[in-house]
Amino acid sequence: MEILAIETSCDETAAAVIGDGKFIRSNIVYSQIDEHKKFGGVVPEIASRRHCENILPVVKEALSQAGMSLSEADAIAVTYAPGLIGALLTGVSFAKGLAFSCGKPLIPVHHIAGHIAANYLDAENPPAPPFIALVASGGHSHIIEVRKHTEFNVIGRARDDAAGEAFDKAARTLGFPYPGGVYIDRAAAEGDPYAYVLPYPKTEGEFDFSFSGLKTAVINAVHNAAQKGEPIDKNGMAASFQRVVSEILTDKTIGAAKRYGYDKIVFAGGVAANSGIRRLLTETCGRSGIRLFIPPVALCSDNAAMIGAQAHYEYLAGKRAGLNLNAYASMTIGAAP
Ligand code: KG4
Ligand code: ZN
Repeated sequence: MEILAIETSCDETAAAVIGDGKFIRSNIVYSQIDEHKKFGGVVPEIASRRHCENILPVVKEALSQAGMSLSEADAIAVTYAPGLIGALLTGVSFAKGLAFSCGKPLIPVHHIAGHIAANYLDAENPPAPPFIALVASGGHSHIIEVRKHTEFNVIGRARDDAAGEAFDKAARTLGFPYPGGVYIDRAAAEGDPYAYVLPYPKTEGEFDFSFSGLKTAVINAVHNAAQKGEPIDKNGMAASFQRVVSEILTDKTIGAAKRYGYDKIVFAGGVAANSGIRRLLTETCGRSGIRLFIPPVALCSDNAAMIGAQAHYEYLAGKRAGLNLNAYASMTIGAAP
């Protein structure tokens, strides 16, 4: 079963061919980040326009690297939610056109389900549901009970800033370029994780997240130092911030696994590339007798391979979209399109 998958939910125009839900035949990601960097964030209108320009060459390249013609694909998959609406619509409209013109089934994929499915691309040892998933990206922080490949129960979510958003805002305050998560990661490696005392924001829901207070604490510390003319220890602040985020994500996810009776955790999303969080989660799961799965760094951020992996299971579950498929800027994982 060969699936041609398309992902355009944010600022990456991506296409991939995935065999049997786990073999990466090709995985093309065209990132627009250099263009958005100068604005300090993704500009939706620019993102949509670049997707329109790049989607055809990116899809052609994915087929070419897979050594396949379009007619050899068994189905077309596309991210339909959540994300930037104009960006999503580009991929959805293109995929609908392709599916219609070549008479292939169209499979709608939820972006967060796709992030989780990046873990299935380990052909040797993919995690099989049920398990607890921690998904942390620029737009989302979720703890999800994954009952089956296509059945999800959200048990915790970000109540304000997502983890990646907090990384990016803290990074901007420290003078790093957008998106700043990776710069915090690098600076943290050189800093003292106890250089600054930062708050652990409280949440009403036990497994919910709140990162906005933590982000504000970094901003205040940096501004206070500037007003007093004192230097800021950038590496120490990055390391302290990353330590607190790592502890919050690890404590809550392992707490959720224990509460819901799971001994398997899957980590996914752009923030899963963070070396400090990967380390703490790995050590703590090891001590708690929990098996942990994390994709290789290259599959943590947005790509179409993960969409193809999830699409395989959606296809097996009978999920098909018609030509009336729409895109949605926000939609809960597991809700019907
Ligand atoms: O999953 P993703 O590529 O896009 C969304 O679906 O949002 O995640 C992007 C986010 C950004 O906030 C970026 O700063 C963060 O992932 N990120 C990291 C690292 N690499 C990417 N955050 C912390 N440490 C990293 N190494
Ligand atoms: Zn994403």
